[in-house]
Amino acid sequence: MSIVDTGDLWWKSAVVYCLDVETFLDWNGDGVGDFAGLAHRIDYLAELGVTCLWLMPFYATAGRDDGYDIVDFYAVDSRFGHFGDLVELMRLARSRGLRVIVDLVINHTSDKHPWFTASRSSRESPYRDYYVWRDTPPKKQPKPVFPDQEKSNWELDKKTGQYYQHMFYKAQPDLNVANPAVRDEIAKIMGFWAELGVNGFRVDAVPFLLETAAIIGGDGALPDPHEYLQALRSFLSRRVGDAVLLGEVNLPREDQLLFFGGPDGDELNMQFDFITMQKMYLSLARSDAGPLVEALQSRPVCSHDVQWANFARNHDELTLDKLTDEERAEVFAAFGPEKRMQVYGRGIVRRLPPMLHGDQRRIRMVYSLLFSMPGTPVLFYGEEIGMGENLAREGRMAVRTPMQWNAGRNGGFSNAKKSPLIDAIVDGVFGPDRVNVEDQLRDPDSQLGFIKRLIEHYRASPELGWGTFEVLKQKHPAVLAHTLTWDGGRVVLLHNFADEPVDVHLRVPDGDESTTLSDLFTDETVQLTGAGAVDISLEGYGFRWLRLVSETDVRRY
Ligand code: NOJ
Repeated sequence: MSIVDTGDLWWKSAVVYCLDVETFLDWNGDGVGDFAGLAHRIDYLAELGVTCLWLMPFYATAGRDDGYDIVDFYAVDSRFGHFGDLVELMRLARSRGLRVIVDLVINHTSDKHPWFTASRSSRESPYRDYYVWRDTPPKKQPKPVFPDQEKSNWELDKKTGQYYQHMFYKAQPDLNVANPAVRDEIAKIMGFWAELGVNGFRVDAVPFLLETAAIIGGDGALPDPHEYLQALRSFLSRRVGDAVLLGEVNLPREDQLLFFGGPDGDELNMQFDFITMQKMYLSLARSDAGPLVEALQSRPVCSHDVQWANFARNHDELTLDKLTDEERAEVFAAFGPEKRMQVYGRGIVRRLPPMLHGDQRRIRMVYSLLFSMPGTPVLFYGEEIGMGENLAREGRMAVRTPMQWNAGRNGGFSNAKKSPLIDAIVDGVFGPDRVNVEDQLRDPDSQLGFIKRLIEHYRASPELGWGTFEVLKQKHPAVLAHTLTWDGGRVVLLHNFADEPVDVHLRVPDGDESTTLSDLFTDETVQLTGAGAVDISLEGYGFRWLRLVSETDVRRY
């Protein structure tokens, strides 16, 4: 007998769903989403088939960065309910087999956090070294992350006459993780949430966290900031053996490898693949699979026990910072041509369906890719029904609009008469009248029905999360043809980035006349020749998921 050893690495084949409690469902009618609302939609999420929820920050906040400016790591934002409501939600999620990960924002706090209030009260404060203070800002500074709001990463605190570092907004002073007392606080925070039952963390702004550790000079400096990331990982594994650290690391390939902990993989378990995401949009803009192929092939060789998290959109701008100026201009021209669609000179504040002009073929092709590129797919709430954005909202807030549940008042998000979030609901062709859960649940051909089927097939095809990736040679530049192979199983995936139909001639490794390709989305099967050759047709923007099977294969069903 052979065993299939996936160990405790559940996240290697998870389907992650990111949501913000604030914008999901308002159960108490005050115009803001809440834990009770989310609890009432747990069955919707379980039936959708996602396996892990990523809850965006729900902690007590000063409200300057949509929850990413925390004033108390141990408290929930009272607008969303009571701590007890969160615990109840965790219990419900667990009862439906859903795992929950939460944002871990430890690069900075809010400037209203009691630690910072104490830190800035005097240079002698015991909390002074919780943050990063300097008499003068260093001459060489990285560019501010939010250049529309900040001119520098250092802010003068008049009272004590020193500058504090803030890599994001000035209302988010950076914690000094080179200070052992701060590292203890962070361990306590992680330990607290782990004890409460979370299955891991989405770690915010990881490179910035380590950079702070690196730049602090003097006795307290960490000799190797990556040792700190290793320490966080082993601490968490000691507390909860199978907990995941999913890191936000938008860096070049060689650095990504470092953040996994090198080939041994003892730092982050998972990283969002920002490079693949950006190149995918370039491929879409050019109708040429080339950039995406290059991105996937340039992934560093990592331990088999780490994973890439794939995404088409997230809650931030669609950043294009890793493209060249010319490439970025191409993507802007294709998907965000107007100034109001762009931010920070590097990103687009739109969701996918409007960017693709509502073309269902193209939209579905992208989600097919999302679920069939090697890795773990991450959905942002509303993607499953094809929501659009509200460009009247400022910057990144354009894509953080309320979930659209039905065509009724306020899109079924809230029955309050008025609230800023109600004002934020998407208007026009992507508004709740035409894009909502209720209608789509009744229509198997809807985007929601389609995403459900993708999830089913992803979950039934462990090769997609675990498999070895290979690009198959064929002659159409617009086509990505790849295989994923694992534990004796093989799937062949085809995606056409162009509007014109094509016939793709391929050779399938290990295929011969005793094997067929069985289409997972239709009943069709395609017979291979002796050399494993096959011709497969693809519609314009078409895709196929094909499993290599033999007559007596038990993988067939
Ligand atoms: C990254 C988060 O994704 C973003 O939304 C936030 O503004 C910054 N980190 C600062 O926390």
